[in-house]
Amino acid sequence: MAEVHVATWQRAYRGLIPDDYLNSLSVDDRESTWREILEKKACELWVAAEDNSHELAGWVAFGKCRDADQSASVGELWAIYVAPNYWSSGVGRTLWLAARTRLIERGFTEVTLWCLAGNERADRFYRNAGFLSTSTKNKFELGGAILEEVRYHARLAPSTPGAGETPATAGSDSSRSQAASRAPGPLTSPRHQ
Ligand SMILES: CC(C)(COP(=O)(O)OP(=O)(O)OC[C@H]1O[C@@H](n2cnc3c(N)ncnc32)[C@H](O)[C@@H]1OP(=O)(O)O)[C@@H](O)C(=O)NCCC(=O)NCCS
Repeated sequence: MAEVHVATWQRAYRGLIPDDYLNSLSVDDRESTWREILEKKACELWVAAEDNSHELAGWVAFGKCRDADQSASVGELWAIYVAPNYWSSGVGRTLWLAARTRLIERGFTEVTLWCLAGNERADRFYRNAGFLSTSTKNKFELGGAILEEVRYHARLAPSTPGAGETPATAGSDSSRSQAASRAPGPLTSPRHQ
């Protein structure tokens, strides 16, 4: 999981986050951070893995929205990361639909997420999934650079799935992998940890 996290950051955020910061990312550091996070049980974590090799293709973390201005009926897609060699093969969509199904089961009627401004692949992915960017933005410092993140929003009514979506059950097949297991666990980290 930490390996996917670091590899994905270094590929997806090149040009958006300073190189020195990206090059200094450590799998060991990420692993210990995730160990701590997973002990706190604040969110659900689902992973997608190859059927045969069980190689981890990606993961999604979601739960109650952490933003103070949102009501209890609002969920949040806390993070979704697909290993670069699996991009554009449906893994992200499978993970999102699994998360969406669980959020609806848990009674959330809306969902938000934060996305780094300029992350065009993610922006396209989220729009295809039915999200819209909002005017709510946040600036933060990372690696000596001031970055901006944008809040996205989608409704979760089961009868009105987002564009291009068909409601799926968790674990439904994609072409190369499936959402394979659910690790109950928490995520209390900063959004861009
Ligand atoms: C954004 C992200 C999660 C999307 O995951 P993904 O697995 O690449 O997404 P999908 O494959 O489900 O869909 C993306 C594209 O693949 C296409 N696709 C989906 N299933 C496909 C399939 N079976 N065969 C071919 N193409 C397919 C989609 O039409 C879509 O096309 P587009 O890229 O032209 O828009 C992933 O790219 C990622 O981890 N990015 C880096 C991290 C990141 O930015 N995370 C979000 C932080 S806010």
